[in-house]
Amino acid sequence: MRVATDLDKMMRPDLLELDEYTPIEPLEKLSERLGIPVERIVKLDANENPYGCDPAALQALATNRVYHIYPDPTCLFLREALEKFTGFDRERILVGSGSDELLELLIRLFITPGDNIIDLVPTFGMYSFLGKLYQAEVRSVARDPQTYAVDLDATLQAIDERTKIIFVCTPNNPTGNQCSEETIRALLATGKLVVVDEAYHDFAGTSYGSLTNEYENLVVLRTFSKLSGLAGLRVGYGIFPPAIIKHLWKIKQPYNVTVAGQAAATASLKDPAWLQEKVGLIVAEREKLFNLLQELDGIEPLPSSSNFIFCRVHRGNARLIKETLETRGVFIRYFNKPLLQNSFRISVGTPEQTAILMENLREVLAAV
Ligand SMILES: Cc1ncc(COP(=O)(O)O)c(C=O)c1O
Repeated sequence: MRVATDLDKMMRPDLLELDEYTPIEPLEKLSERLGIPVERIVKLDANENPYGCDPAALQALATNRVYHIYPDPTCLFLREALEKFTGFDRERILVGSGSDELLELLIRLFITPGDNIIDLVPTFGMYSFLGKLYQAEVRSVARDPQTYAVDLDATLQAIDERTKIIFVCTPNNPTGNQCSEETIRALLATGKLVVVDEAYHDFAGTSYGSLTNEYENLVVLRTFSKLSGLAGLRVGYGIFPPAIIKHLWKIKQPYNVTVAGQAAATASLKDPAWLQEKVGLIVAEREKLFNLLQELDGIEPLPSSSNFIFCRVHRGNARLIKETLETRGVFIRYFNKPLLQNSFRISVGTPEQTAILMENLREVLAAV
């Protein structure tokens, strides 16, 4: 029997108005649509590790025999391995289904509707998305339009008694620049919770992790999705102050990190030499790519401390360039919004991928 009901009226009106998420097409679908084999697609749009994950992680996935058992809610072995790897006590480490989940848990713990969060734009979109989801007022503070450095004075002015969290992405996605220690310390001095997102810190060779020993209002988040090449398994972790982590344990879902994710991430930490070698390759390739992009007429690459390069496009339309590259099997990320006008972000790939990218980019730019 059909019962007359108005479901829309029963839902949260603010959520009905949210923009829809535009999903990235799966590789197999892209390959089918473009008639290009999967192995020939050059995917430089999501800052993944082009070398995949550590063979030790693949081995752990293949030999694990407990996929029929629910995962360990405490991620004990992984946290032990992280303690050794990072030097931080496992009691301060919480693992999430990607660092995205940890961002969400923090917002859930701190935000009462009407509180505000500080979003240093342009930056990673998840902070504002989650803020809106939990009915926080998202206070966007513009970075310097040329360098994308955080505007400390404007940030301090935006903070008030209902400010709960300041999100600092360093190196910043999508602009690739780092936030200075001086700025981070000034933000910490406000007493608000500062969440430093270090998803890309390996490529910068720096970290603010040690500041967690000094400040009780600092959380540092990291991920296995980028350097460790495990984006598809969804594993991230954070270093938290004791006063925060004890409540996160209560509000997280028990089985938030899969058996596969825990096994692969734990195995990947046992081989720091593999990770270091890949950092070296990616950083060297980044510098090479930067020089090559600089030679292109009408493209202005910005120096990057990450595994991607942000470029302003001064001649031609960035969207058209991106779409033409796509028809050739080369994928990059395009932007056209305030502070990111007519621009794109290119992830650093293998030398072979750089060669294919550059050949196609030169041809496409010659035609605009
Ligand atoms: C700055 C930043 N933080 C966090 C994430 C999400 O990481 P995870 O895959 O661990 O959820 C990303 C992913 O692109 C990112 O760019």
